[in-house]
Amino acid sequence: MDSGMDTEVQLSLSGICKQFRQTTGRKRGRGGSAPRPDAPPVPVLADVNFEVREQEFVAVIGPSGCGKTTLIKIIHGLLPAEHGVVELNGKPVTNPSTACGFVFQHAGLLPWRTAQKNVEFGLETKGVARAERARVAEEALTLVGLTGFEDYYPHQLSGGMQQRVGLARALARGPDVLLMDEPFGALDAQTRERMQEELLKINELTKKTVVFVTHDLDEAVYLADRVVVLAARPGRVREIVDINLPRPRPPAADTKSMAEFVDKRRLIWSLINTPADPVDAADPVDPVDSVSGVRA
Ligand SMILES: Nc1ncnc2c1ncn2[C@@H]1O[C@H](COP(=O)(O)OP(=O)(O)OP(=O)(O)O)[C@@H](O)[C@H]1O
Ligand SMILES: [Mg+2]
Repeated sequence: MDSGMDTEVQLSLSGICKQFRQTTGRKRGRGGSAPRPDAPPVPVLADVNFEVREQEFVAVIGPSGCGKTTLIKIIHGLLPAEHGVVELNGKPVTNPSTACGFVFQHAGLLPWRTAQKNVEFGLETKGVARAERARVAEEALTLVGLTGFEDYYPHQLSGGMQQRVGLARALARGPDVLLMDEPFGALDAQTRERMQEELLKINELTKKTVVFVTHDLDEAVYLADRVVVLAARPGRVREIVDINLPRPRPPAADTKSMAEFVDKRRLIWSLINTPADPVDAADPVDPVDSVSGVRA
């Protein structure tokens, strides 16, 4: 889908700013480490603005430490922003929203529960009745290609399969928006590409709005309708790039040889690897270390 489509804005970020206080590392009761009184707060996100339309797939890319995870947690309502507003379906997000499903880099499954029971877990906390939970969980596991693995425990599943369970768990709760934070980052290259193709297929069926954080240029261009390129220190939007590749998207090998793929990959590569402004010029991020797949 291209950004010009006539769909509603589902998620909007306006003027998002976030800073963290440096801490001493010493424990302060139950509240974690004590703030260092002498250290100024470190700005992590500065005036981040963008919108995501219904059923749009937006990738967010930027160097390590630029604030991607912080941003996606703010979108979910897990972290408050100092300034700015996140609106979901026209309403400000103040608490972790059940309208968002979160998929993390590590699936974080409960080791003592089977795949089926892990997917059901999110429904239990929503108060869904037992029979309905079982039905919805089974349906979600089928969608992610795990029929037959319902009774497997996490340690009996490969990394890719565990991520599928994590995705099923998020989908089972019926979110409007899927927030994915480097969900395939820990997988080997081949499994990762297969998971990308699977995710596209699943999304053709479920038509969710997706915000997908990644370091990986190929992944961003292959999956997304638009790529939000972040600059670092502090994290801010460098540019938003439209990806005009066909949907349904052909297999990765075919898509990656298309001129549009090659051009947009090169454009985003150069955005990441040239200083955004004098702040970056004075303190450049090492691009080869911080963003994978960076050879133009
Ligand atoms: N709870 C916290 N307290 C203090 N600083 C934090 C906290 N969480 C994150 N930071 C800092 O904020 C910055 C951004 O972190 P964040 O995890 O959002 O980056 P990222 O872009 O997701 O990085 P990566 O690509 O490595 O996952 C980092 O400098 C990090 O040290
Ligand atoms: Mg992160």
